Amino acid sequence: MTFPIDLVRTQFPSLLTTDAGQARIYFDNAAGTQVPQQTIDHVVDYFQRYNSNTGVFNPTSVAVDAMYAEATQAMADFLGTPDAGEVLIGASMTTLTYHLSRSLAHQFSPGDEIIITRMEHEGNVSPWLQMAEDNDLTVKWLEFDRDSWVVEPPMLEALLTDRTKLLALNYASNLTGGVNDVKTLTAMAHAAGAQVYVDAVQYASHRLIDVKDLECDFLACSPYKFYGPHLGVVYGRRERLDALHPYKLRCATDELPLRFSTGTPAFELVAGLMGTLSYFQWLATQLGEQGTRRAQFSAAYHAMGTHEDVLLEQLLSGLLAIPGVTLKGSSSMEKRVATVSFVHDRHTPSTIAAQLSAKGLYCHWGDNYAFELARALELDPEQGVVRLGLGHYNTSEEVSTALDLITHTLAQ
Ligand SMILES: Cc1ncc(COP(=O)(O)O)c(C=O)c1O
Repeated sequence: MTFPIDLVRTQFPSLLTTDAGQARIYFDNAAGTQVPQQTIDHVVDYFQRYNSNTGVFNPTSVAVDAMYAEATQAMADFLGTPDAGEVLIGASMTTLTYHLSRSLAHQFSPGDEIIITRMEHEGNVSPWLQMAEDNDLTVKWLEFDRDSWVVEPPMLEALLTDRTKLLALNYASNLTGGVNDVKTLTAMAHAAGAQVYVDAVQYASHRLIDVKDLECDFLACSPYKFYGPHLGVVYGRRERLDALHPYKLRCATDELPLRFSTGTPAFELVAGLMGTLSYFQWLATQLGEQGTRRAQFSAAYHAMGTHEDVLLEQLLSGLLAIPGVTLKGSSSMEKRVATVSFVHDRHTPSTIAAQLSAKGLYCHWGDNYAFELARALELDPEQGVVRLGLGHYNTSEEVSTALDLITHTLAQ
């Protein structure tokens, strides 16, 4: 079935917004996606109908509790676990990761080792570096292969010892788009006795996650990268979460998932997240999938990913044909998602990005917080790359226009 791109675009009101009459091409999705009307409606509905705190008998409070329970269950279905207690919702991936790193540190002793890949966004680096510093742990860096742009299993094998306690592992790089074989790498880390903390923030924008298939211990994502509000979500295996020392108020609940929730959650955004998940179900219905919620997420993501891959192929081949452009990521369609970074031999990334943004092509530049990766690639520390991140509401016409704008900009 052809992807209903026109119908999809009608669901996203911001796609029609212009800058003084100039249309916007949103290719900045790797930094944050636009939201569908369902997300907006759910936020508005929350404020109009049941804005309240939790845990009392007021009908509004009862409605908030029900909504929170429903949203965590829907997120559990989205991540591939039947257990909503394994779904922690917080302010951002970075906030949750810092929070959990403080708890995890109780399980480690001085001299224990943690492994961090060079592909990480700083959100999956700094919390662990600071944990290591505070607790005299040894940090080992896991390189990626410069041809495949991912971590190859032998590279991890060489670092694992009986003192390895944690592997911080990127699912998809927010700079190169490279996708790691998380399942294989997780099994290797487990065999050595280490826990695995997966950063799936970029991956979740493009492919459906299955935490039970991956068998990881923790996995973080950020709804604002998959057409939702500014929140972070972490899946944690129940036995791992139960074993953690919680940093919580004495009188706050010890029940999962709220055991790790510090303060009052942003209920309006959780309602918005429910709207986003409903949007995926709506899309699945358009595609003829009427099955379980998980089956609908799967159908929606399959169609979204297939549509994006067509655009990605068009973008990659177009960029490779422009004189002076060097991709920082794989030029093949294997083991990658639709996040594309490049540099040019004459123009700096900031100059290119400024000119493209002025022409309505929304993009990003810099190291994009993939700080170690940018250093490993010897990118100009002040400049990094130009990054284009595609989403499922982008079109082939937008890619053609973007390539024309880039060609024209770089020819100057
Ligand atoms: C791969 C990756 N990890 C982590 C983060 C940080 O997420 P948050 O803003 O939710 O802390 C980002 C944000 O760009 C990201 O791309």
